[in-house]
Amino acid sequence: MKISRFKLILPALIAWVGFGVSYADGVHQMNIDVKKKGAEISNTMYGLFFEDINFAADGGLYAELVKNRSFDFPYALTGWLPAGNVQIMNDGPFENNPNYVRLGGSGHGAKFTAITNEGFFGIGLKAGEKYRFSVYARSDAPRGSSIRIELIDRAAMGEQQAFVKHNLRVDSKDWKKYTVELTSPVTISKAQLRIFLTGQSNVDLEHVSLFPVDTWKGRENGLRKDLVQALADMKPGVFRFPGGCIVEGTDLETRYNWKNSVGPVENRKLNENRWHYTFDTRLFPDYFQSYGMGFFEFFQLCEDIGAEPLPVVSCGLACQFQNGRDAHCSLEEIDVFVQDAIDLVEFANGDVNTRWGALRAEMGHPEPFGMKYLAVGNEQWGEEYIEHVVPFIEALRKNCPEIEIVGTSGPYASGEYFDYLWPKMKELEADLVDEHYYCPEDWFINNAARYDSYERKGPKVFAGEYACHGAGRKWNHFNASLLEAGFMTGLERNADIVRMATYAPLFAHVEGWQWRPDLIWYDNLSLTRSCSYYVQQMYSTNKGTHVLKLLDDMQKPYTGAAGQDGLYASAVYDETDNSIVIKVINIGDESQEINVALSGLKRNETLKKGVVTTLHSDDIYADNVPHTNLVIAPETIKPVTNEIELNGQNMSVTIPAKTFVVYRLYR
Ligand code: AHR
Repeated sequence: MKISRFKLILPALIAWVGFGVSYADGVHQMNIDVKKKGAEISNTMYGLFFEDINFAADGGLYAELVKNRSFDFPYALTGWLPAGNVQIMNDGPFENNPNYVRLGGSGHGAKFTAITNEGFFGIGLKAGEKYRFSVYARSDAPRGSSIRIELIDRAAMGEQQAFVKHNLRVDSKDWKKYTVELTSPVTISKAQLRIFLTGQSNVDLEHVSLFPVDTWKGRENGLRKDLVQALADMKPGVFRFPGGCIVEGTDLETRYNWKNSVGPVENRKLNENRWHYTFDTRLFPDYFQSYGMGFFEFFQLCEDIGAEPLPVVSCGLACQFQNGRDAHCSLEEIDVFVQDAIDLVEFANGDVNTRWGALRAEMGHPEPFGMKYLAVGNEQWGEEYIEHVVPFIEALRKNCPEIEIVGTSGPYASGEYFDYLWPKMKELEADLVDEHYYCPEDWFINNAARYDSYERKGPKVFAGEYACHGAGRKWNHFNASLLEAGFMTGLERNADIVRMATYAPLFAHVEGWQWRPDLIWYDNLSLTRSCSYYVQQMYSTNKGTHVLKLLDDMQKPYTGAAGQDGLYASAVYDETDNSIVIKVINIGDESQEINVALSGLKRNETLKKGVVTTLHSDDIYADNVPHTNLVIAPETIKPVTNEIELNGQNMSVTIPAKTFVVYRLYR
């Protein structure tokens, strides 16, 4: 508690430490007893939530560069520009994606038949990088036929237009996969892929694909390396996928059906993406889910980045916002949905001799993925949800006792749905309850104490989707991220009950977004991390292992309450390096002096050094993703790390206005 209004404004952050200091008025006192280790902080505490919104999968994390590679979009040539004699056929080699194209003579000489793919807002290529083109093709002519594959810049003229050309002989009457490596001589964000018929006879083409060779871990059906790296750098403890509303679908037919997302990639059944028409001001009729990045790839990604997988399955209710009461499967049909959940556990964890475990092994991962959590439903509400979720809970408890079940509390942080569902979740003994809050600034300012009074018995909390949506300014400005940081001290302080928290949404293509703010923005060549990304990262990389109480002189936590001058703070102990980590957020307009007094150290034990990480912007409405032109540019707001010398049991610091600081203190 601050003792008087006296203020000492210091120009920059300073640190001063000593034994037996006396404290002047105007100094905030933060007291931490380092001997009293509180609750263990779950490894899953800070994580990621992935949903295919904003072109996050196809056109984003999934590195495929060709849109509608199998010609199975409802309009079969979506994404393709045909010229000459191009026919759509539908008796192809892949049962679930039956369409393919037949390129035939145009009657003007073969060279006028071609198809050109526009990619996702263009095709991004980097000079000197290799790209793997592949296609299933056949020709019915006895001596085969041929095509020419080109990478082109439509804006260029003459010879410059096709900057890569490669002739390919199609010598098989039966479907055969042809693969070619192409090197781009240029860096270009909006290239296109063109395929000319150059032979005299017909050529059939199916599953036309182009991937960078240099994907994350070099996998052929791989993910974009820079985007995965940004995820790995977060050191996430948990990864929730695949949504969000796409789990529910617009209707049950279009729900995310994980079984369609596994097995050979060519035969994964296309699904529409419900975000393609959700907002009529952000209409993307060409937004579909190829499922090229499906559940196998999600589990593999979790393993790569060290996050616990947390899949979400449909509970047999489609989006209630859109469908009202017509959105459910009748309870007689629920068994299919329940079986999907049980089978998913088998796919992730089952022995290789089981049906779904065998498929996992066939796909290249005989070892189980060790899935521990499963969420049933996304933002469902009301009695309908309870009726639908009960059969899941019963079946999962019986067949998969190792799985912790995550139920939902509806789409809002409070109110009728929330108040109805929480007690129900307790009654049903869900392990965790998923809470969502996309709220304005004042909510984040006033809710750092939200979990201080939660009942400790019963389900734990999963803050599964949250973000500060600044009133009228819904983008990623610094102020929103600062308020998120302040609020998150309350998650940390209550780590005994809050087991997981994931910001949402995660990804957005600058040309294809439907929803903002988002954590990471990208175009076809590069990315920008938002200020909120850095807040999340400062928490997740300074998570610690045990909560420490941090109190003012009135024994109150710093929650920005009256008299605390806009200060939020929390502390943890990290047994991995025996450090004490203190997070302080000053959302106020003035700098604040703070004295941190550590008790419980051994008599002669002193602090030796501190690593100080600071996130600050002079302009609180600045952001790393300029909202006006949405162009990826170098990040201007990033954490800065310094080391400080320490030599006592207290630490005095000044926190500038509008600043988030993490102190990692070593003895
Ligand atoms: O994150 C965007 C959407 O917000 C999610 O799909 C949904 O769960 C929530 O309404």
